[in-house]
Amino acid sequence: MSKAPLAAYPALRLRRLRQADWVRRLVRESVLTPADLIWSMVVHEGEGQVPVAAMPGVSRLSVKDAAAAAKEARALGIPAIAVFPHIDGAGKDAAGSKAADPDGLIARAVKAMKDAAPEVGIMCDVALDPFTDHGHDGLIEKGRILNDPTIEALVAQGLMQAEAGCDILAPSDMMDGRCGALRRALETAGHQDVMIMSYAAKYASAFYGPYREAIGSGKLGTGSVDNPGDKKTYQMDSANTEEALREVALDIAEGADMVMVKPGMPYLDIVRRVVDAFSMPTFAFQVSGEYAMLMAAAQNGWIEEERAIMESLGAFKRAGCAGVITYFAPRAARSLGA
Ligand code: PBG
Repeated sequence: MSKAPLAAYPALRLRRLRQADWVRRLVRESVLTPADLIWSMVVHEGEGQVPVAAMPGVSRLSVKDAAAAAKEARALGIPAIAVFPHIDGAGKDAAGSKAADPDGLIARAVKAMKDAAPEVGIMCDVALDPFTDHGHDGLIEKGRILNDPTIEALVAQGLMQAEAGCDILAPSDMMDGRCGALRRALETAGHQDVMIMSYAAKYASAFYGPYREAIGSGKLGTGSVDNPGDKKTYQMDSANTEEALREVALDIAEGADMVMVKPGMPYLDIVRRVVDAFSMPTFAFQVSGEYAMLMAAAQNGWIEEERAIMESLGAFKRAGCAGVITYFAPRAARSLGA
């Protein structure tokens, strides 16, 4: 806010600058472009596309379709894709042991997308939850999520992803110390150019619900081991802000190149605090539940679909984000005239 004294009404009429489109455009403070979008995408083993019921307009893509989507991203000016695997029951166990499989779905999808459109950045989730039958992001012993043994599994997974051609590792597990372990492993293995975007301030949120359907996640509270029914011992308490700043500081100190706040719209206050405190490239994830809410209201005719989507994405730029991870990426890019 400017320190200059404001004129008083009637000399000051703020509506003067809103009277026509040209002047509104002229004084606009933040702008959303396709270059701000990271396309959140789910892949599966099968052929063709499988719609995700809770996310109208989103389907799981085959590896072949993901490669085509990478070309589409390039044509639309979308810089990067965040890819998530749908793993069926046979690929899951208590240890998530398929997470680092060099012939697995993620490795094949990354290679196919990089072959199809090498100019598009590919980002992979580093987390065990698609591969565990209990749906947690870590290894479990007697109902406790184990931090350090989980990190070892994450490092193996991250190295496999880097080997497959992934450009950005995005640890979304919220174990303490995982960014440092990943960074050291990448340096040692000669992958010094692979970036880390940490899910630094990630909250235990109800807004991830549709994602768990999308990736076929194991149901929390069930499975082969004594299994906590929520992720509150590792993901953050939604009431906390100062702790978010400590989480972000820790990940930056460990070597994260970019940081993320997740979910998005309910946590824009956290985005603003993180941007102000660290001046790091800061991203937000507009998660599955946010997508579902917007689409559900739009399909009921309760909000204007296009306007509400674009307003929701613009809010991330206004809050200070460098960009936003979103399932709306291709349609938003089209709407921006790409
Ligand atoms: C897994 C992961 C989740 C999401 C991204 N990575 C779910 C969770 O932590 O439970 C959520 C994405 C979305 O809801 O769109 N670690």
